[in-house]
Amino acid sequence: MPDAYILGIETSCDETAAAVVRSGEQLISNIVASQIATHQPFGGVVPELASREHLRAIVPVVRQALAEANRTYDSVDAIAVTQGPGLTGALLVGISYAKALTFALEKPLIAVNHLEGHIHAVLLEERQKGNHELHFPVLALVVSGGHTHLYLAKQKNESWTYQNIGHTRDDAAGEAFDKVAKLLGLGYPGGPIIDRLAPHGDAHAVKFLPAQIKHQDRRKVKGTPQADGDQRFDFSYSGIKTAVLRYVEQNNLQASIESRRKALSGIAKPKIEDYLENSDRQTLDLIASFQRAVVTDLVRKTLAAARAYDIATLFVTGGVAANSELRTTFEQHSAQEGLPVYFPSRPLSTDNAAMIAAAAYPKFQAGQFAPIDFSAEAGLALR
Ligand code: KG4
Ligand code: ZN
Repeated sequence: MPDAYILGIETSCDETAAAVVRSGEQLISNIVASQIATHQPFGGVVPELASREHLRAIVPVVRQALAEANRTYDSVDAIAVTQGPGLTGALLVGISYAKALTFALEKPLIAVNHLEGHIHAVLLEERQKGNHELHFPVLALVVSGGHTHLYLAKQKNESWTYQNIGHTRDDAAGEAFDKVAKLLGLGYPGGPIIDRLAPHGDAHAVKFLPAQIKHQDRRKVKGTPQADGDQRFDFSYSGIKTAVLRYVEQNNLQASIESRRKALSGIAKPKIEDYLENSDRQTLDLIASFQRAVVTDLVRKTLAAARAYDIATLFVTGGVAANSELRTTFEQHSAQEGLPVYFPSRPLSTDNAAMIAAAAYPKFQAGQFAPIDFSAEAGLALR
């Protein structure tokens, strides 16, 4: 098959992104316009503002992705767009724009699941490095602001299918990072800030009980013995968030949190030194202990799933996969088990459109195009 240049568009949450990828294996351009400054004063993503910002950014972002790829609208072979999961209003901006482009240009339109995109970010970069050999079964942990999902990824001819063997029953891991950071007066988004502050604290200082991170595996039918291939590995991160809140209350940290919040809100782009200057030892210890507890749980549960399903290759992807401690802990533990683990580079761990263009390539090859009347699906499942 000749080379295919796919323009990817991603607007599911708070990044407006466009990228050009060649044949699912070479990143040609990758533009991400972040909305952090818009949502920061609210301590989280405001859906209405997200849609408005996408509307503002979509045309220049797509133009820049094409310009940096030395491509014109006419010289791309297909347009891929995120269908879901995500915020409906945000998704609709990307979908409407992609539809208008494909209609005007008479190009094929490909609808992509955002979670499949995160998985294909890993495949894209491995192929780009020349690693074309992939050993199955593949297990992918997609860990982001909205998801903590474990998928068995299968490939038949060019097509990929996915079986979910675990997901969060309440908060996603990234959501817990964001909520804890907000609670501690550190601002939004919390993951990258906690990542940078954690090495400055003692991760053994605060003990989180196992009950605060539930570990029970869910069984499909009560009292029925576990069938092969049926075992589940679910996550839960709302308990640890509540435990952090309780620690704050019991240790009277509210006043210091409030003064930190005030001090940081007066700095346009706080640096690590600003966060450190405004964080006492007890808070840094709490941050380090929280991160250690979440990372340990993610790694433990994922490796248990890998053993149960006799996995040959592990992918860890999504925004939280950018976390340094998560990466090193996965690397250490999976090396001990002889299990190769792959992450995307940090820019491709968080939301981007290169992953959407990469995930679209097998669908392009298979001629799986979206009808012009398809719409956004906020809760789209990956299968
Ligand atoms: O994949 P993503 O960009 O968007 C979603 O699909 O949700 O993930 C965003 C999430 C946020 O919760 C953010 O705090 C978290 O990923 N995140 C991190 C790091 N970078 C982003 N969490 C921990 N450590 C990081 N370095
Ligand atoms: Zn994402």
